[in-house]
Amino acid sequence: MSDLEPRLRGFSTRAIRAASRVPRIDQQPTSVPIYQTATFASSDADELGRVAADPRAGYAYSRISNPTTTALGDAYAELAGGEAGVALASGMGAIHAALASLLETGDRVVAPIAIYGSTRAQLLRIFGGFGVRVDSVDTTDLDAVGAALAEAPTRVLYAETIANPTTYLADHAALAELAHRHGATYVVDNTFASPYVCRPLELGADLVVESATKFLGGHSDVIAGVVAGSAARIADVTRVQIDTGATLGPLEAFLVLRGILTLAIRVERHARTAAGLASWLEAQPGVRSVLYPGLSSHPQHDLAVRQFRPGVSGGMLAFEIDGGRAAGRAVIDALQLPELTASLGSVHTMVVHPPSTSHRQLSEADLERTGITPGLLRVSVGLEDLEDLQADFGEALMVARRSADAARAPVPAVAAN
Ligand SMILES: Cc1ncc(COP(=O)(O)O)c(C=O)c1O
Repeated sequence: MSDLEPRLRGFSTRAIRAASRVPRIDQQPTSVPIYQTATFASSDADELGRVAADPRAGYAYSRISNPTTTALGDAYAELAGGEAGVALASGMGAIHAALASLLETGDRVVAPIAIYGSTRAQLLRIFGGFGVRVDSVDTTDLDAVGAALAEAPTRVLYAETIANPTTYLADHAALAELAHRHGATYVVDNTFASPYVCRPLELGADLVVESATKFLGGHSDVIAGVVAGSAARIADVTRVQIDTGATLGPLEAFLVLRGILTLAIRVERHARTAAGLASWLEAQPGVRSVLYPGLSSHPQHDLAVRQFRPGVSGGMLAFEIDGGRAAGRAVIDALQLPELTASLGSVHTMVVHPPSTSHRQLSEADLERTGITPGLLRVSVGLEDLEDLQADFGEALMVARRSADAARAPVPAVAAN
């Protein structure tokens, strides 16, 4: 931008130019700057043509690419063990871009029965609406997955590292091998684990997706998504992101980058507290079962040991209490510390009753098929002190037991007069 003869210009012109002058500095900032700009100026028409056509050649327009957002995609790729990565507007945007980069009308997706409700809705409503066939299978049953893949040509086998909300695990090495044997691409949602706990690409997955809103961001103050994989696959995902506009803003990218700085120590602590809360819950009256991959009672504990960072099984657990739906809701209402919100992976402990929130789209029959029992509660264990959480859950369980007892007590006869 030339500033020749500024005295000859009007006040508005001078104000716009003066306030748009980007400082040139010789020292590198230690944090990734927030490039809060929609546009980037090129030196000539040729360069503008080049960068507008190919985001790898430079920056033109922040829907296409932005340095802060690119820094997040690159950081995630490195942590996930991928050749390349891209950051998008949300976890759902990331799942959509990953799938849309692979699917065409007439294609088939095989996905778990136990899957995040909005992912199921996206598969059925959006991709189903464009003529993609979606079949569900129990992805913990490898024979059933093999049979489903043998039944018809499949473009995508989809799985979640730790299923929401049941904490059932996907055996990535086995599922990737099955997918590839049947000519399918293996796509994994790693949101519940984070790359600190599990890296599906290193176990054979072709694309890994995460809601960066969760453990990566870590403070429930940002909505974002990320995808990693080979450079060729990520170029295809990026094409969808550009064309659909599922672009992440630079401020949001910065917040996730800041979260990643402390990902390891946060997830270590989430996992330690979750393990402590899970084994304590197992011993509480009124608690029927506890699902946490780090417990030896978890049906796939051996797989957790094989597939996860040693001794770190993440911050997500689920438990089922006596008394069904009413008791589940009573516990939620009695808890004082946790946030009543449907999210996870935050410094705040969050408890949900999936049958009435994240999985409310499912019929009673589907809830049963997915292992979501009426009294199931999902806990995203935060960074509070374990003793405080135990005290709060102890109180809430007692309130739920009392209200269940009161509901069972015979109604006193009313004297007739
Ligand atoms: C497993 C899983 N995947 C994807 C998403 C979607 O993420 P976002 O809300 O960032 O779109 C969620 C959100 O809860 C989730 O739990």
